[in-house]
Amino acid sequence: MASPGELALARAAGIAPADTVLDSPAKTPAELRQALALGIAVNADNPQELARVDALVQSAPTASPVGLRVNPQIGGGAIGALSTATATSKFGVPLLDEGAREWVIRAFLDRPWLTRLHAHSGSQGMPLEMMARGVEATYELAEEINGRAGRRQVDTIDIGGGLPVNFGSDEESPTHAQYARRLKARVPGLLDGRYGLVTEFGRSLLAKHGTLLARVEYAKEAGGRPIAVTHAGVQVATRTVYAPLSWPLRIAAYDAQGAQERARRRPGHRGPGLLRGRPARREPSAAAARTGRPRRRAGHRRLLLRAALLVQQPCQARHLRLLAARRRRTLRRRARAADPRRDRGGVRRRIGTGRAAVSVSTT
Ligand SMILES: Cc1ncc(COP(=O)(O)O)c(C=O)c1O
Repeated sequence: MASPGELALARAAGIAPADTVLDSPAKTPAELRQALALGIAVNADNPQELARVDALVQSAPTASPVGLRVNPQIGGGAIGALSTATATSKFGVPLLDEGAREWVIRAFLDRPWLTRLHAHSGSQGMPLEMMARGVEATYELAEEINGRAGRRQVDTIDIGGGLPVNFGSDEESPTHAQYARRLKARVPGLLDGRYGLVTEFGRSLLAKHGTLLARVEYAKEAGGRPIAVTHAGVQVATRTVYAPLSWPLRIAAYDAQGAQERARRRPGHRGPGLLRGRPARREPSAAAARTGRPRRRAGHRRLLLRAALLVQQPCQARHLRLLAARRRRTLRRRARAADPRRDRGGVRRRIGTGRAAVSVSTT
């Protein structure tokens, strides 16, 4: 867990403290005290947090395994903002910074109760090989600490999560088994039984196992862009809303009878609620009901939808303009045909009267 809310949820769900790890990078003294009292594993993020843990460990005995998070600084993945192993990534002790490795080793040698080493090399977007390199660096550090301590002080390595999820289909790729094989090949010592292993997979466990249903409350347009206003937005899909290309959720649209509309996410759109598909049919307008004429906007509306779907593709921009112009001409023709002031078969003549221009018909 990474927050008091998650801890409360885990406890309410009956997760044993021994199976829980508190890994928030910003733990308050109260959170640390609670975790240590419950026997929940804690990974300190930085020297200041370790100093807080020092004070708490001295003030009351704890059954909690305590570890230290390091950043192996092996480089970033495809999602820069969530890469946690670049030289400047914000979490854990940056191992390659001057003096940092020695500081970490000293921290362990000075604290016999510090028994875990933790690294989380990236939350999504990391190639397996890179993740394995981060784990390898952590394992080598554990070996060095144990060598210097002359005993197996580091008994558990926490490799974090970060297994990438393919958002495009239901297929799981890469799989946990592939990652395990990669780790076995690159860091055989990690899996030979000498170390306990903790993992913190998040998205790879959850992403394919949930569906969110949201009612489309309104369908509208803005500047030709079709918009479905739903009850699922930034509060449930924050990353998708702010970085849709990195976090592309699959979206399907259904009509009121439950039939699936042809729906597809457009690349490059902002926000999760923009769907391909026709909005639900609306009641005819009062004017349409009075005149008995079909609503003029319906075709126009479909055109706008089509336009919005294609608008991301520059090569089709010209085609779109032509389509729109043709549609405008059709609408004008229909409006003229329906104009009650125009006698069918008559000749239209334009007479200028000062600034105004009126259109009259003569037979
Ligand atoms: C320390 C730590 N562990 C595990 C995870 C879960 O990562 P993922 O959902 O990519 O598996 C995160 C996510 O940010 C994290 O920061």
